[in-house]
Amino acid sequence: MKIAVVGTGYVGLVTGVCFADLGNTVIGVDSDESKIRRLLAGESIIFEPGLAEMLATNIKRKRIRFTTNLQEAVDACEVIFIAVGTPQDKKTGEADLRYVWQVARELGQTLRPGATRRIVVKSTVPVGTTESLERRIRDTLRRRRVKAAVTAASNPEFLREGSAVRDFMEPDRVVIGTRDTKTASILTALYKPLGAPIVSTDPRSSEMIKYASNALLAARISFINEIANICECVGANIQEVAAGVGMDKRIGSHFLAAGIGYGGSCFPKDTEALVYIAGQGSVRSRILESVVAVNKAQRVRFLDKILHYYRGHVKGRRFAILGLAFKPNTDDMREAPSIDIVRGLIRRGARVAAYDPVAISIARPLMPAGVEYASDPYGAAKGAQAAVILTEWNEFKELDLRRLKRLLKTPVVFDGRNIFPLENMQKLGFRYISVGRREV
Ligand code: UGA
Repeated sequence: MKIAVVGTGYVGLVTGVCFADLGNTVIGVDSDESKIRRLLAGESIIFEPGLAEMLATNIKRKRIRFTTNLQEAVDACEVIFIAVGTPQDKKTGEADLRYVWQVARELGQTLRPGATRRIVVKSTVPVGTTESLERRIRDTLRRRRVKAAVTAASNPEFLREGSAVRDFMEPDRVVIGTRDTKTASILTALYKPLGAPIVSTDPRSSEMIKYASNALLAARISFINEIANICECVGANIQEVAAGVGMDKRIGSHFLAAGIGYGGSCFPKDTEALVYIAGQGSVRSRILESVVAVNKAQRVRFLDKILHYYRGHVKGRRFAILGLAFKPNTDDMREAPSIDIVRGLIRRGARVAAYDPVAISIARPLMPAGVEYASDPYGAAKGAQAAVILTEWNEFKELDLRRLKRLLKTPVVFDGRNIFPLENMQKLGFRYISVGRREV
């Protein structure tokens, strides 16, 4: 099948490359010329395991190419995916759809008479967007007096950064939201090689499935973080509690890792957007409001733990920050808890030496002035008062803890991701302060 993917950001690039790998011919379109230039040279502009290799192979096999020219893609492809960004309006929390509408306008202007095109919305968009997108494109065609057949479908993505290629290739389900049976059958055929169950529904329910999925996952994280905070008061161990709770098949064990809360480009934005959507319909989303509030408080609580340990006197003390990215296997810094925690330390006069395996260059402009960067965890730890783990990179799980202890000025570790067993840390003689577990 010939497919165009408009928007070569995170979702668009992974979607395009994976569809190409499945044997389709893909054209990736983006208005950013420098991005297109880099992609044409075979450079995977995002850090995503497995993507660069897959991109190179499919460029070589001529299954994927990139252009800034939407017309070219619209002329060549019957199926056009929209995967442009839907950032958050900082004031209201709602999704900002300017890029989606811009593509809709351009599609309406570039479609040729007699064409039949299926527009598929991959971007996370408020409920009703797919339907109004179809209306807008048809309106433009009418104004141009062009007779072309356009149908729109919602087809949300459930990719996680760091495992997006695998998530695309081995999805738990594929959701297709359209009232047009021909479009539904084309999309079903496109996804058939993945062998995943297909949820066929209307566009609004499809858009809601995406929001509800992210909101529920975010809710699990805030819930387990709240339970972790209670564990700290009553002397229980959150990891054992989560393991015990998660064994109930009705509950399941995923997304029950307590820590410093969720970040990234999706959960923070989508939960707030859903609160806004509910408000628009005069529904007060009490649960989601709390999910958001608990998440924001969790990183502050962790910072407070550090401050409390030093009775508020962190001025002049040096901290080794291990991990900046919002989660491992990505260089994404959006809404990363590390930003608030490092800022909080620096604001109180602490000194910070930070290390992250891949996110340093992206983190730099977001971090306060004065932060130093190390080229490995030991370099960060040298002469520091304590190590502060903010991202659970495997590299940290495999640290030579004896070496770390020798390098630190005092053997203190604050762990926002609970990566070490308490007994080990105790045996090694660390003061070890984590989340939802007793201090050792
Ligand atoms: C999330 C969803 O998992 C994807 O299904 C969805 O497609 C994507 O958002 C999106 O809407 O585009 P992502 O943000 O890449 O994916 O990352 P996750 O692996 O879900 O982690 C999100 C955050 O939750 C991270 O900050 C992570 O540290 C935190 N988390 C996750 C926890 O604190 N505890 C957990 O048990 C799991």
